[in-house]
Amino acid sequence: MKVRRGPRSGLPVVVAIHSRALGPAAGGIRLRRYPDWRDGLADALRLSEAMTAKNAAAGLDFGGGKTVIALGPDTEVTPSLREAALLDAGELIESFEGTYFGGPDVGTGPDDMVVVRRSTSRVFCLPPEHGGTGSSSIPTALGVFASLRAGARHVFGSAELTGRTVVISGLGSVGALVAQHVAAAGARVLVSDVDPAKRASGYEWVDPEKALRTPADIVVPAAVGGVLSAELVPELSAPLVVGPANNQLTSEAVADELAARGIVWVPDFIASAGGAVYTLLREVEGVPHEEANARVEAIGATVSAVLDSARDKGTTPLREARARVAARLA
Ligand code: PHE
Repeated sequence: MKVRRGPRSGLPVVVAIHSRALGPAAGGIRLRRYPDWRDGLADALRLSEAMTAKNAAAGLDFGGGKTVIALGPDTEVTPSLREAALLDAGELIESFEGTYFGGPDVGTGPDDMVVVRRSTSRVFCLPPEHGGTGSSSIPTALGVFASLRAGARHVFGSAELTGRTVVISGLGSVGALVAQHVAAAGARVLVSDVDPAKRASGYEWVDPEKALRTPADIVVPAAVGGVLSAELVPELSAPLVVGPANNQLTSEAVADELAARGIVWVPDFIASAGGAVYTLLREVEGVPHEEANARVEAIGATVSAVLDSARDKGTTPLREARARVAARLA
């Protein structure tokens, strides 16, 4: 791990590499506000570990890493500060000499990667006109939708979403696309976001504090992590929780509490792997679009396998998924 005060931006930049057991580390560049920059450091460490699990469980030959650019609670993000911070991040990434590759994440997108590219070539998801495969949110959402249908088949006996109520907590770049998929499949979609301007999305709205507790068939955590806690579990009413947010559980024990209540939770590092799968296959292995998309859709089969074997063995989906990761890393 390296931590620097960016020479151009003055902002703390962290690159954390958790594992290179399967190959070079890969994971996005997060640009986010933190109460204290050390919270950003802790986030980078947790997120890099989640990337190890994500890439391993998805069968990718990549390790786990993450970059965090930590904005303060009151940092004013002008375009020039943003550019400076992205150049700083690229410079730090370049110092890893190809053992870590970055890409977009919460707070960044393909256009930002064009800026990062000025400091390092080790960056994915540039817009197509710059030679990349563009937004990873599109395949991430596709993988979440495949996971959601697999979860529905497991819990309700059918992947059919017509007539089901689905709550999407977080209408960011991935959450908004998941909402589109789910609405197109005929479900009633309720959304929430900490940004009240997202009410204009036109979907039914729920308060962000109440979103996960809303009576529904499926709840989709699609914002930042740390939302499923021991305190929240008794208040959940949906029998299926599946979404793209990284590190949804406040601790691993929450998975046991969810299972004890009969709630099926699809491990986040499995459901959210679509962006990594598509991007790494396309940009590193040169796999064609259709084939890469098929690999993203296959996340649904992984979800089915994990949920079925967890049920058969009397364990939780998290333990089952962790065992699969450990087997790959061994
Ligand atoms: N940041 C996204 C994730 O956490 C997508 C991504 C994966 C981007 C791997 C780059 C490399 O999965």
